[in-house]
Amino acid sequence: MRRSDAKRFAVGLRNAFVVLAVVVCGWSGLSAAAESNAAIASAHPLATAAGQSVLQRGGNAFDAAVAVAAALAVVEPYSSGLGGGGFFLLHRAADGYQVSVDARETAPAGVSDAHSFDGEGRPIAAATTRGGTAAAIPGLPAALAHVAERYGKLPLTVSLAPAVSLAREGFPVDLRYARIAKLRESFLQSGINTNVFLAHGKAPEAGFVLRQTALAATLERLARFGAAGFYEGPVAQALVQTVNKAGGVWSAADLRGYRVVEREPVRFTYRGASITTAALPSAGGVALAQTLGMLERFTLERIGVPETDHLVVEALRRAFHDRARYLGDPDFVPVPVTRLVSREYAQRRAGDIDSARATRSDALGELETARVESHHTTHLSIADGEGNRVAATLTINLLFGAGIVPAGTGVLLNNEMDDFSLRPDVPNAFQLRGGLANRIEPRKRPLSSMTPTFVEDDKGVLILGAPGGSRIVSQVLLAILEYVRAPEVDLTRLVGMPRYHHQYWPDRVEIEPAAFSEEWRSAMAAKGHTVRPANRAWGNMQAVFKARRDGAAQAASDPRGDGVAWYLMSRDP
Ligand code: DON
Repeated sequence: MRRSDAKRFAVGLRNAFVVLAVVVCGWSGLSAAAESNAAIASAHPLATAAGQSVLQRGGNAFDAAVAVAAALAVVEPYSSGLGGGGFFLLHRAADGYQVSVDARETAPAGVSDAHSFDGEGRPIAAATTRGGTAAAIPGLPAALAHVAERYGKLPLTVSLAPAVSLAREGFPVDLRYARIAKLRESFLQSGINTNVFLAHGKAPEAGFVLRQTALAATLERLARFGAAGFYEGPVAQALVQTVNKAGGVWSAADLRGYRVVEREPVRFTYRGASITTAALPSAGGVALAQTLGMLERFTLERIGVPETDHLVVEALRRAFHDRARYLGDPDFVPVPVTRLVSREYAQRRAGDIDSARATRSDALGELETARVESHHTTHLSIADGEGNRVAATLTINLLFGAGIVPAGTGVLLNNEMDDFSLRPDVPNAFQLRGGLANRIEPRKRPLSSMTPTFVEDDKGVLILGAPGGSRIVSQVLLAILEYVRAPEVDLTRLVGMPRYHHQYWPDRVEIEPAAFSEEWRSAMAAKGHTVRPANRAWGNMQAVFKARRDGAAQAASDPRGDGVAWYLMSRDP
């Protein structure tokens, strides 16, 4: 395709989105018949439009999730992609079946401590964040095939088609892309084949048409041959070769042996609302159950009232302490999940919360050092007209992952090895520390904070999730507290609420800049909290709400995603 044609295509796509958004926003004002509404919230309009087109072709929410996830891999390559993984939480309307599809990456079988520590036992700088030792075996391609084949109505050739054309024809990068590429310009200049994300070796300006023809071919192989199109044959060969040249220890068997795991979601109730969320190896669901279990014992007001926020912080502190002590891949370590999420345990853990004073984290257990954070990952929430639902959080971990694109594949590999705990005294990029349960072992899955969640109550069903590393848990927690408290649902408010976070260590309450008043900060300090404003806001929450009353669906995207609510709502086609 000539450059001018590609531009026309891209502009056409953008116009199509605008038109769809206008029509659909018009519909959202009408009271729709029950079970006739579908909604999609994702972090990019082209991804949402991909989901919409698949619904229009007769697909269900699961097909749409495949289309949206694959399109996000193309248009937000810094966040998630075929070289990464994630968790898909599914609800099938026909029989009420719910499952957490674990598409988390696995450590290669050949991994050993020597890849992360030098001869003196010191952690090797960037070993888990950059290059071949940082990348774990990807899970997303297997998940796309699994979700489509087991739950979808359409073949992968149809649900992956929008992603294939976005990759092949190109799309105009937005301001967010331009900003993130600028931030990571030298990383992309020095990575392996990562110049595909640059324009003539430099971060592109917004509007530059990014084409990823190798990625289009890989997506087509996946569409044609299913998971084998990625995990076997030429793509697999290229992955192994490039990763190992970059210091990794992948084998063909690692890729051939990769499987998604269907796990029973974590389920619990909070003040009458039924909550369903991701299972281990995401630590997010367990943390959500623990924090809400503790908080149910107190009378709470809205977020922003220091007495309430103090209790929320104390609950987070304790849940993250347990994460560091007990949680890891359940296929490798015994984790007492049932006990940890039980009411009895919540009662005991909440027992030493002092409503007047902060507990010191070191009184609970551990020590301290420091490191820099980074943010990116993506979330999508979908409901279709049949009542099926998907919440999926997907990632390649830090911005642009490990900085490796194996030749000819277009696949940017993750740096998920950083989500393991190297040692209890070595924090990861999110400053999370953990114990033996989450140490690196061959074929093991690293712990995650990704928390795709459904909340059901008399008002309806809320489908939500967000990126943000360890701060995912507090974002989802705050949104649920507000959703359950408020008699009416204000979805835009839920995704836009000011945020704070505590993760046991470092022992401080992080707040978004200018999000809370001086009085609030003084009141929290008076209770003994160290309050630290972060340099920038965090998260990019995507939420869908389906009302019980009439089945009407709404969607909202976090205003932090560049201040644009990228979503479509529609009656089922
Ligand atoms: O699985 C996790 O918890 C992390 N790899 C997620 C990374 C993330 O959310 C980056 N975000 N903004």
